[in-house]
Amino acid sequence: MVAKDALMTWDSVFSPIKWDAGRLVLLDQRLLPEQEVWRHYEDATDVAEAIRKMVVRGAPAIGCAAALGLAAAALRYPDDVEGFNRALMRDIELLKQSRPTAVNLFWALEHQQLVARQALEELGADAAKQALEQQALKIWRDDVASCRAMGRLGAELIPERACILTHCNAGALATGGYGTALGVVRAAAESGKQIRVYADETRPFLQGARLTAWELHKSGIDVTVSCDNMAGALMQRGEISCCVVGADRIAANGDVANKIGTYMVAALAKRHGVPFYVAAPRSTIDLGTPTGAEIPIEERPSREVTHIGDTALAPEAVGVRNIAFDVTPAELVTAIVTEVGVAQPPSEQSIRALMD
Ligand code: MRU
Repeated sequence: MVAKDALMTWDSVFSPIKWDAGRLVLLDQRLLPEQEVWRHYEDATDVAEAIRKMVVRGAPAIGCAAALGLAAAALRYPDDVEGFNRALMRDIELLKQSRPTAVNLFWALEHQQLVARQALEELGADAAKQALEQQALKIWRDDVASCRAMGRLGAELIPERACILTHCNAGALATGGYGTALGVVRAAAESGKQIRVYADETRPFLQGARLTAWELHKSGIDVTVSCDNMAGALMQRGEISCCVVGADRIAANGDVANKIGTYMVAALAKRHGVPFYVAAPRSTIDLGTPTGAEIPIEERPSREVTHIGDTALAPEAVGVRNIAFDVTPAELVTAIVTEVGVAQPPSEQSIRALMD
């Protein structure tokens, strides 16, 4: 049965997503940590815009938001099979155009398309609406469960009194709730380990300084914000026990696309003999993409690099690149932690074994 309670969230964990009786509700992450503003959505064009503009961000959260956003839109589709199907295909295309790198978006929409088509053919539009809503809620609920499971597995890799470096935000805010990389951090803390976290500030969108610091501090976990260019010095001084990051897409050979700067951190970790862990659900693994070279990498507006709010940080009219993600070769990754097991070291065989 589909639960319809107002502002429903899963589990007791904090989530950046809510489902309010047929409407998607998102915490506007652009405004954190200063303001906590929740926005309501019922139209796929607006949900696609929210994903593009990063009201919601982080690979699993984007997948959950797209699935729920489509379900909300579908509740307003016409009741005839043809009209429903036309609207469904239009909205799936719209949502797919929002951001290219995180594979969870495409994974969630493909699951939604399958379930809606089947219900539509067999039982009609009303059943398709219900099926979309039920499956979207399941995708969200399963994502939280996956985060908890990978947290438990990943926590075993974290030594007592560890100082963990993380990049970007792969926390509750980036998922259905709890987090992937920060799920590992949370589970290690919950198991009683005395841990500390260094959060790379993560230029240009500052997911580390604004979001990772916000959610870890809120959870009572010791967090220190550091500039991205401090990572090498911290490792050189022996201050980092291990790195744990999330992923936007993992290729079949174990190459990992994640926030720009991740590759730099992984290369430094290798140089200093610091273990480099990636935590991600299996919905982030894309067996259809053989290596990292084939992963589509998003480039975002230059204004994100040149401005903070209305303040210009660079002269006008200079060239600017804003490559949003990079690819860390599998050989730099110590292990990939998923909800069902750990690929250590990551390879085509160890990754495939997790997907069987
Ligand atoms: O541009 P963003 O903020 O969507 O990028 C997010 C990341 O790169 C995360 O590390 C990744 O999506 C994993 S989130 C669990």
